[in-house]
Amino acid sequence: MSYPTKPRVLIPRAEIDDVVTRLAAEISRDYRDKNLLMLGILKGAFVFMADLVRRLDFPLEVEFIRLSSYSSGQQTQGSVKVVQGLRRNLKGRHVLIVEDIVDTGITLSFLIDYLKKKKASSVRLCALTDKVSRRRVPVEIDYKGLTVPDKFLVGYGLDFNEQYRNLPDICVLED
Ligand code: IMP
Ligand code: MG
Repeated sequence: MSYPTKPRVLIPRAEIDDVVTRLAAEISRDYRDKNLLMLGILKGAFVFMADLVRRLDFPLEVEFIRLSSYSSGQQTQGSVKVVQGLRRNLKGRHVLIVEDIVDTGITLSFLIDYLKKKKASSVRLCALTDKVSRRRVPVEIDYKGLTVPDKFLVGYGLDFNEQYRNLPDICVLED
């Protein structure tokens, strides 16, 4: 089977690798003795999270949360829902959200508010990519990978209609 739309490589795997290594160094510097709780946003962050945690050599916990924002296709829905919540008590914990891409910022600003209400000691954000030109709600990215153009990206966890998450590079779909 082949893809109906051909993906063109935008960020090759070697470059992603360097970025993940840099982010891991920044996170290590800040969280080594903090009993870090890393919170990945499903599904898009699963590949990034897997690469990132394997570069951290101190004790930490991994959790995932599933939010609905894009139900299908490419458009942001205005409201965000928690589809699969946290079983963990966040009170007093240092939480680092791990996200594949920040687009309008709607998903992240919702999640940061939600986590602060759960009385985490700190809530920060690590995002592999930032589509900054699309921002509608301001979001502070504490650990930022790369700024990306306003194009629909797939691969390295990012999907279009649930396809392409398995591509090892970040790609753009050609028309
Ligand atoms: P936001 O709420 O608009 O910032 O959207 C964030 C979510 O939309 C991300 O977690 C992604 O799952 C998804 N998303 C945004 N841009 C893209 C893209 O270019 N490709 C795939 N998914 C995207
Ligand atoms: Mg996502």
